[in-house]
Amino acid sequence: MYATAAKIIKSAKRCVAFTGAGISVESGIPPFRGENGLWNKYDPATFDIQYFHQNTRQSWEVIREIFYDLFGQVQPNIAHYALAQMEAKGLVAAVITQNVDNLHAEAGSRRIHEFHGSLKKLVCLGCKTCYTVSQIDLTILPPVCLQCGGILKPDVIFFGEAIPEPARTHSFNETSRADCFILIGTTGTVAPANMIPRAAKSNGARIIEINPNPSEYTQSVTDIFLQDKASVAMEKLMKEIER
Ligand code: APR
Repeated sequence: MYATAAKIIKSAKRCVAFTGAGISVESGIPPFRGENGLWNKYDPATFDIQYFHQNTRQSWEVIREIFYDLFGQVQPNIAHYALAQMEAKGLVAAVITQNVDNLHAEAGSRRIHEFHGSLKKLVCLGCKTCYTVSQIDLTILPPVCLQCGGILKPDVIFFGEAIPEPARTHSFNETSRADCFILIGTTGTVAPANMIPRAAKSNGARIIEINPNPSEYTQSVTDIFLQDKASVAMEKLMKEIER
């Protein structure tokens, strides 16, 4: 399986990686669903945009606990670095990620489309001024804009919000040009992100999936299912590619 996957990647004209929370599990970030998933502990309704507008402080308290206290200290793992190496070798053209943890960038990937935005940025709901999170004191909640005093929100999409541009357009453009897709660590349950691998498949791309568990894609979209954790699978894949 790994040898076949490596051959497909090396012979592809344009291979794109599509990643979900699973690729960051070995960096210490729990997934959203499944074993010790975040949604088992926190109510996803807290991440609905209406709830944020109506209960800004309460929402920010949970956001800070999960995304800044917990996520804040993590590092990329082997899988993130392997994808960055594959990009440097010209084997992967881009990464489309549902993750907001910035770990692909920290691992050295350059062409990244953050389909759900990024925690590293905060945006003012009033005047739209953008900040990096290091510019803002998160001990005082909700954080406010230094220009206009408006409420700041992490630059990630909440349930009920539209996918940010240009990430949306770029992601679907990449999908239309790819003849190989590597899906890593995603259940495939959240729209519209979950349309991307299906669009790639219908464009004739070969689909390689890395996940220790079957996903919504495994039976219907995946051509080669590498049933391993992301870091184990990417290490095996790199060995086969370098043979
Ligand atoms: N390596 C690879 N995959 C793993 C690992 C691992 N070590 N551990 C778990 N997984 C897989 C799980 O089997 C599961 O398929 O990662 C996936 C995690 O699924 P979700 O938590 O649903 O993550 P994801 O598919 O990215 O969620 C999509 O849902 O809540 C929203 O915006 C949030 O971007 C997120 C979106």
